[in-house]
Amino acid sequence: MARKIVILTGAGISAESGLGTFRDEGGLWAQHRIEDVATPEGFARDPGLVHRFYNTRRAQALEAAPNPAHEALARLQRDWPGEVVIVTQNVDALHEKAGAEAIHMHGELAGALCFACGHRWPAPLEMVPGTPCPSCNAPAGRPDIVWFGEMPYHMEIIAEHLQSCDLFAAIGTSGQVYPAAGFVEEAAMAGAETVELNLADSGISRAFDDHRVGPASKVVPDWVAELLASP
Ligand code: OAD
Repeated sequence: MARKIVILTGAGISAESGLGTFRDEGGLWAQHRIEDVATPEGFARDPGLVHRFYNTRRAQALEAAPNPAHEALARLQRDWPGEVVIVTQNVDALHEKAGAEAIHMHGELAGALCFACGHRWPAPLEMVPGTPCPSCNAPAGRPDIVWFGEMPYHMEIIAEHLQSCDLFAAIGTSGQVYPAAGFVEEAAMAGAETVELNLADSGISRAFDDHRVGPASKVVPDWVAELLASP
């Protein structure tokens, strides 16, 4: 039976599509304080600031096009004889724009969430404080993004995939944020081979069996071509 592949992606895969990463030089977290724009407490303090931050990112993401790395993963998901599960920490829709399916563990810029009743709906381009929920009418709309201190989405199904995969790859992620940073160990403990594809060594490179160093637009298509040549 063909091997099952689980792929974790991070901001690095979208960098060459023009979307900034968080922790590289000049990245988003050098320009904004995490406490202000990516925590429930920051949102309670100044929802206008938080909405402006995500409105800007939503507009940028809408303009962005997938790059050869997203396209290669879509090809792998389509042509690999076994299962290919893409789990992304990214809140853009570039995997989907390339034709792949992805599990969004940190939410999506395209989504709005009611913090009163939990209802979800497609986010308008511009969200403002007090956006009413279309289900319960509470003025409680927020971006459907997982903030620091909140539980990432879909963790049960992700754990099942990690425990049943034969190959785990992490692409363009710094390994600084848990639980995603611990996926490589979960997969390795379940017996999977592990490979890291990144522009540079990450903080957790030593946890991987194999490394492909370079820009995602180059190393991901090369890796996918190798896999598809000998499934
Ligand atoms: P980071 O900004 O922490 O890391 C980006 C990684 O991408 C680094 O390891 C870079 O070396 C690598 N990289 C940059 N350009 C690349 C390229 N062209 N090709 C390949 N690799 C490249 O981003 P994440 O690891 O995704 O969470 O960050 C994880 C989470 O932290 C995010 O989902 C976000 C953030 O706070 C929330 O907002 C909840």
